[in-house]
Amino acid sequence: MRERGAVAGTTVAAAFRQSVARLRAARLRYGHGTHDARDEAAFFILHLLDLPPQSLAPLADVRLTQRQAGHLRALIDRRIRTRAPAAYLLREAWLGGLRFYVDRRVIVPRSFIAELLREGMEPWVRGPVRQVLDLCTGCGCLAVAAAQAFPRARIDASDDSRPALAVARRNLALHRLGHRVRLVQSDLFAGLGRRRYDLIICNPPYVAAASMRRLPAEYRCEPRRALAGGHDGLDFVRRILEQGAAHLTARGLLVCEIGHNRAALERAYPRTPFLWPETSAGPGHVFMLGRADFPLSRDASACRGRATRRRAQQSTRPRAR
Ligand SMILES: C[S@@+](CC[C@H](N)C(=O)[O-])C[C@H]1O[C@@H](n2cnc3c(N)ncnc32)[C@H](O)[C@@H]1O
Repeated sequence: MRERGAVAGTTVAAAFRQSVARLRAARLRYGHGTHDARDEAAFFILHLLDLPPQSLAPLADVRLTQRQAGHLRALIDRRIRTRAPAAYLLREAWLGGLRFYVDRRVIVPRSFIAELLREGMEPWVRGPVRQVLDLCTGCGCLAVAAAQAFPRARIDASDDSRPALAVARRNLALHRLGHRVRLVQSDLFAGLGRRRYDLIICNPPYVAAASMRRLPAEYRCEPRRALAGGHDGLDFVRRILEQGAAHLTARGLLVCEIGHNRAALERAYPRTPFLWPETSAGPGHVFMLGRADFPLSRDASACRGRATRRRAQQSTRPRAR
């Protein structure tokens, strides 16, 4: 009771301290655009002040209105009670300095690919980027970031979830990009015809089955199908590596996020020269692969070759009696 009274009408600094204490005591999990209780308290307060992400320090002495303080208290109550990520409660997420509308039809945007787009892809892309595909677009965040990074490019943003595409449409309108980004409902490449792209960016579902079974409550609020990547997390990546070359231009580049699955990927494709650009997660969360290096001609055909040889040997080998 005392705490409730204390928040109302207090300064931003006091509201921040009290919010952080409550969030910490509740032992929540973070990772949906915020890293810890301090980040999250700042996110709530800045939202109530209608401000983008920034340091709270210059605002420390600003007084919250009774209404804002009450709203803050209610939001933190809900965050603790439901464990839903703050972004869902606020219907707002930030990625690469861009604001997005989000709700439970999509995951909360946090892809490290946004960092690469923001910092510039010049070291990796060869030649002009005119056609971009954001495969598995979700709320459309990477398509919007790509449109900003490549102002002359046309962008296709695909997802097989109709509800996710409805959210993406809303974000394209928010960023006035409806004319430059085309939304396509498609099971990976199936609905894209023979289109080829200079750049394919993709943050597919990549959580391995064992990790899916242990997901914290916050992550269970997100669409399961946006996270689950099969037994080793690589189900989607394997399909993308099989089919992607056919959708890249000769000098095209695939940029794909895979979380913690680098070792599994390199075991599965030992001869494929993946590049591992540095992001704030370190090297290893995102790989890049030029069309010429796709495993079609190497690992994959080697695997297929081995399987075919095995089958051939089995069919010609004399039967054991
Ligand atoms: C990890 S989320 C990424 C969303 C967004 N790109 C981002 O970075 O926030 C993966 C997305 O893949 C979509 N998805 C799942 N299965 C798919 C499939 N077979 N074909 C296309 N998209 C699929 C999900 O609907 C989800 O939006």
